[in-house]
Amino acid sequence: MQGLYANPGGGLRPVHPPGSAGRTLLSDRSVELWRDPVRFVSAGVEQHGARAFLTRLLLRPTVVLADNRAVRHLLRDRETFQCGLRDMFMPLLGENLVFMEGGRADSIRASLHSLFSSETATNYQAITERVTRHWLEQLDSDRPVDLYAAFKQLSMELNLAVFLGLERRERGADVAAVTDIATTHWHGLYALPVSVSVPFTTSSSYKQAMDAKEQLLTLADQMLRDDAQSAFIESLKLAVEDPETRRNHLLLCASAMVPKALASLLTSAIVASPQWKERYVSDDGDISDDDLTCVLLEVQRLYPPFFGGRRLVTRDAQVGEYLVSRGQAVVYGTAAAHRDPAVFPNADTFDPERWRTSNKNDQDKLFCFGGGPRACIGQKMYQHILKVACRMFISEFDWHLPATWRPTWKHLPVSRPTNLPSLVLSRRSEAEQWQDATS
Ligand code: HEM
Repeated sequence: MQGLYANPGGGLRPVHPPGSAGRTLLSDRSVELWRDPVRFVSAGVEQHGARAFLTRLLLRPTVVLADNRAVRHLLRDRETFQCGLRDMFMPLLGENLVFMEGGRADSIRASLHSLFSSETATNYQAITERVTRHWLEQLDSDRPVDLYAAFKQLSMELNLAVFLGLERRERGADVAAVTDIATTHWHGLYALPVSVSVPFTTSSSYKQAMDAKEQLLTLADQMLRDDAQSAFIESLKLAVEDPETRRNHLLLCASAMVPKALASLLTSAIVASPQWKERYVSDDGDISDDDLTCVLLEVQRLYPPFFGGRRLVTRDAQVGEYLVSRGQAVVYGTAAAHRDPAVFPNADTFDPERWRTSNKNDQDKLFCFGGGPRACIGQKMYQHILKVACRMFISEFDWHLPATWRPTWKHLPVSRPTNLPSLVLSRRSEAEQWQDATS
């Protein structure tokens, strides 16, 4: 039987994933997945005693993967496993690299590469520092702060400054207006589960999102026409000739998708802080580069912003040890693959030290930014921005989570705690002054 199948995993005896896709609409489990995707995957793993199982999602027989090795194979084989998000998200996000296949994807990816390379990422350090500094100064630390809301604001400001050259210090009204439009656009994504039973084009938030998309595209056109809006736009104009491709990628950059993911990671770093702050941060707010890297890798492992991804199977194949058939879909659960005990010992424990010891060479087993030939083009730039913003926050403020608090999570569209208490932030500089005065 094995000979019949493409075998990217090599070596393993292939098995059919346990479970059933049923035969009718009624067996579709999309609504369950949409309610809590992380629980859906972990419940399936427990029920079937395997890190892959067959079910029906979005009306298609779907293999769900929580097996780290199988997910790596899935992401590496772009020919067998093609993007499965197009029908759902392309109308809202436009024809961009996320949804392209084959030669077209290769050529656009190559054109965009220089805009997001690690050398370019460090060029955005000055913008990141300026925007974060301004946000830190404006943060009202006299009263308890809703940190998720505050991080969403910072992340949106960073995004608009880096990509569009809009900074709140100088163009506060424009930043507020674009934030509003991008948020309405983003809320269209919530309307998607309705598509399982009712065509989603009937949802009013979806219609508003489509209007917001047009407004963002108009803004993109204007910015691409005018001179010197941002270094990024100037580089985009040089790198990409086709006007339609330019505007669609600027739409992706201006959308709220990226800032929501960044806010999710910043918030999760705070949620996990009882496991790292005391150990790695000095009294005056310093943390070594290496320690911060390990902390943020562990945040990405346990709290990836996006629940996972979806691929369509173009021919009968094997993924890891599992057989999949042409016409099926494969959904991978990022958090589940990151908690695969075959790769991560004590997988549920937040342990930054693992990145210096047991998992020293395992960064390619993290899928927070996807992996393989379709890995996120913004990964290096945004990991850099995440680190700079995080370091500046730690250096400016101290905070304490109540000892008895335990997070509950919502995972769509991005993961974030639903019960994060408002936190009192204390400026380290003020604490120092107070100490000097009383000593
Ligand atoms: C914290 C920030 C970000 C996170 C967590 C993130 C996450 C991801 C993930 C998980 C994928 C893989 C999706 C899949 O497997 O189907 C991906 C792909 C992609 N991301 Fe990001 N991303 C981030 C920032 C960005 C930025 C700043 C951009 C640039 C505007 C970007 C553009 C893309 C594109 C174009 C792809 C598809 C690449 C391809 O298919 O060749 N992302 N991202």
